Amino acid sequence: MRERGVEPPDPTEWTMPLMRAAVMRRVGGPEVIEVDRVPVPAAEDGESLVDVSFAGINFDDLERRAGDSPPPELPAVLGVDVVGTRRRDGRRVVVLMRHGGGYAQVVAADDAHSVEVPDGISDEQAVGIFEQGATAYGALTLAGRLKPGETVAVSAAAGGVGHLAVQIAVALGARVIGIASTPAKRALVAGLGADEVLQPTNLDEQLRAVTDGRGVDLVVDATGGDQTRQLLRGLAPFGRLVSYGWRAPEPGRGTISVTTDELTDRSIGCAGFWMRHVVDNRTLLRRIADHLFRLAARHHLRAHIDRIVPLDQVGAAHTAIAARATAGKVLVDVNRET
Ligand SMILES: NC(=O)c1ccc[n+]([C@@H]2O[C@H](COP(=O)([O-])OP(=O)(O)OC[C@H]3O[C@@H](n4cnc5c(N)ncnc54)[C@H](OP(=O)(O)O)[C@@H]3O)[C@@H](O)[C@H]2O)c1
Repeated sequence: MRERGVEPPDPTEWTMPLMRAAVMRRVGGPEVIEVDRVPVPAAEDGESLVDVSFAGINFDDLERRAGDSPPPELPAVLGVDVVGTRRRDGRRVVVLMRHGGGYAQVVAADDAHSVEVPDGISDEQAVGIFEQGATAYGALTLAGRLKPGETVAVSAAAGGVGHLAVQIAVALGARVIGIASTPAKRALVAGLGADEVLQPTNLDEQLRAVTDGRGVDLVVDATGGDQTRQLLRGLAPFGRLVSYGWRAPEPGRGTISVTTDELTDRSIGCAGFWMRHVVDNRTLLRRIADHLFRLAARHHLRAHIDRIVPLDQVGAAHTAIAARATAGKVLVDVNRET
């Protein structure tokens, strides 16, 4: 007979393996993210369970948390890039988590979106260069068609994508002009090999001043709004601007319109880049990852790890990123809590 007032235990709690994850149960500020025990995900066909060591935090996570991007199905675990050990073969892999789920001790990783990490590259470096490095590489080469000897301006050059774009462009033989808002960020960008580092004001004039009046061949831009307009005006004839993000606080996330006669009058071009089109193409994803790991092995590419936060400090890290107080990559140690 059952004791009065005592609930029978839920048998699923005995059998279901649990893990720690940073979970959001509603959209809102950084405080909506809380650590909880949740079931370990089940791996479906074409997926493998990965024990995560580090997860990356990306700007897109902040937008999804706030409900600005398509909101996740709740409750949700955010996080689109992780590194860890694949259970079925013990291999270290970096994984792009298309639907999130990264801020957790275990993920069900799509095998098509997983890439093995070569020996000699640490977990932190692997996840630090993978998603944002692929974005930088794609924006510079696939969309931007950068050629050796060309001059490229990189906006938000101390950011997660930007600081890798500077290094990749240098490695590809370009002359690189980095743009960053504070002296500390500009010092970081100069240390990464940029030939010139500018403040984000009057950029058209500054770009002309450092190119003998000619302008730059390529801009890779994550800012938007008025800054993107200035950058467009700083293009040389046959120059291209590649947009891959919008961080400007202007309405409409700083998207701008450019007319065909503006392009024709100055023989310039505009393009966009979205990682989705790399993630969906296994051959391309592998090829880009190989390039990035090769650059890293030759010490041409290194992620600047701004901080590694424990799982219960993900919200605080979101706050720091939103305040522009970070440079390079922010990681979560999913197995540590304060
Ligand atoms: N297209 C894609 O597939 C793809 C992939 C990854 C990321 N993205 C996008 O690319 C952008 C950059 O991503 P990230 O990971 O490099 O971000 P991040 O590490 O947060 O760096 C972004 C940089 O933007 C600059 N910034 C300019 N205006 C800002 C503002 N109002 N608030 C905050 N920062 C501002 C900051 O540099 P300063 O302080 O020097 O100005 C900051 O360092 C984001 O919009 C992200 O969504 C796109």
